[in-house]
Amino acid sequence: MKIKSAEFVMSNSEVAKCPKNRIPEYAFIGRSNVGKSSLINMLTDRKSLAKTSGRPGKTQLINHFIINDEWYLVDLPGYGYARVSKTSKKKFQKFITNYFEQRQQLVSAFVLVDIRHKPQTIDLEFMQYLGENGIPFGIIFTKADKLKPNAIDNHVEDYCKELLKTWEELPPYFITSSSKKIGQDDVLNFIDATNEE
Ligand code: GTP
Ligand code: MG
Repeated sequence: MKIKSAEFVMSNSEVAKCPKNRIPEYAFIGRSNVGKSSLINMLTDRKSLAKTSGRPGKTQLINHFIINDEWYLVDLPGYGYARVSKTSKKKFQKFITNYFEQRQQLVSAFVLVDIRHKPQTIDLEFMQYLGENGIPFGIIFTKADKLKPNAIDNHVEDYCKELLKTWEELPPYFITSSSKKIGQDDVLNFIDATNEE
């Protein structure tokens, strides 16, 4: 897929206020600081379409971007950010689960995980939650530039082994680096293929 246009549409704190039309959408979720917003910029060839930051907790709202006037890309806040109060954590969880459970336009979610880390409970639980709610998802390994090629293979293999303890089949997965521009075609081609179904 060629990116011809990529524009910010709106930010929302509630799923009820998100765009009402039936354009298919793809949402990016994962721990704070895993690189969701950077990945969105890499995928769309835009330097600062989505706001990024070295400090976790940058993205706070549901952000819709329209790509090629055909599909929405959705940047979400990260989960597992420790420096917020318990009440706001609860409120936040509700806001995310409302999005996933109510957004009928959602074709697929992408769960981002840092390729350097061993499988984390919070990510595995989130994938389990998506599965239980019948929400298709793919896994995007981020920051692949931080590992040597053979270490990438080992980490991905270990991750898949862990997944196969609870899942019968592996979800689609992608190895990416936003700083080295790795994996752009793989992710965009997957979006293209599922968008036509
Ligand atoms: P929140 O919005 O806070 O949930 O974070 P996020 O997941 O959107 O992360 P963001 O894209 O803002 O990136 C977090 C940090 O990771 C920034 O300092 C980025 O420069 C860095 N980063 C993101 N992607 C990559 C990558 O592919 N390689 C490397 N080396 N650093 C990256
Ligand atoms: Mg972000």
